[in-house]
Amino acid sequence: MAELSGKSVYITGGASGIGKAVVEAFIKEGAVVTVLDRSADGLRELEQQLGDSVRTITGDVTVYEDHQRAVQCAVEAFGKLDILVSNAGVFDAFAKFVDVTPEAMSDAYDMLFSINVKGSFFAAKAAVDELKRTRGNMIFTVSGAGFYPDGGGVWYTASKHAQIGLLRQLAFELAPDIRVNAVAPGGTLTALSVIPPLRPFVNIVDNETKAKSIKRRNPLQIAMEAEDHVGAYILLASDKARAITGEVLASDGGLVVRGLG
Ligand SMILES: NC(=O)c1ccc[n+]([C@@H]2O[C@H](COP(=O)([O-])OP(=O)(O)OC[C@H]3O[C@@H](n4cnc5c(N)ncnc54)[C@H](O)[C@@H]3O)[C@@H](O)[C@H]2O)c1
Repeated sequence: MAELSGKSVYITGGASGIGKAVVEAFIKEGAVVTVLDRSADGLRELEQQLGDSVRTITGDVTVYEDHQRAVQCAVEAFGKLDILVSNAGVFDAFAKFVDVTPEAMSDAYDMLFSINVKGSFFAAKAAVDELKRTRGNMIFTVSGAGFYPDGGGVWYTASKHAQIGLLRQLAFELAPDIRVNAVAPGGTLTALSVIPPLRPFVNIVDNETKAKSIKRRNPLQIAMEAEDHVGAYILLASDKARAITGEVLASDGGLVVRGLG
């Protein structure tokens, strides 16, 4: 039986990678989805692929009004909003703190925190009233970097810890009306982009090298693909998780059992 039958979902960063896999999986489970992404080309492809089950908004998660437009679009098109997935994010490519100049450090902080952290504040704020009406739920895409070092550099790791702080406090404040949870994917083969201020300080590796490194780092030795995480999102979004809030569900090949956490 479809787990998300009739649910209306708003997702950020759904034009690529993990977000796109979630959009496809949610629609297979009977949901209708509104996607905000800065990639107009990616959104056009999504519309061609998924037709009437999807609405798209080209915009930026750092702009509050873009989230308001997306929520309004979801409600106008589908009558309500049941689920928010705050997923858009960017990466620091393991840039080393000591190598980066103070100026680049500051620019990188502003850019990465605006997207990864403020983007989630804004998404949650824009969606909260509609989710209250439906007693819905929020899911944040965090990362193994939200718990452990060496899932990125200081910018990415601190931003993912911050998102977890946001979700815990929101889960507390928004109960009993709205559940708030997160999925923490481990290293995954996607096009996750590296922010410009840090590009001079990092090596961008090819997919084959990335796959080897991801496999080596997780006990299940999986070079994870975006589709590997969709089960975690479906569970948290569905009514089967009605007793789950404030939780981070790791989908990372077992980082916790490395014994390093
Ligand atoms: N790939 C990994 O190894 C990995 C691991 C753990 C967590 N994550 C997290 O998963 C999430 C999705 O990343 P992904 O790996 O699928 O990368 P991706 O680049 O394939 O997808 C991210 C999407 O977000 C969009 N986006 C980025 N900045 C935006 C902005 N300012 N406004 C609107 N849209 C924006 C991009 O256009 C893209 O479609 C991120 O939060 C990332 O931190 C990724």
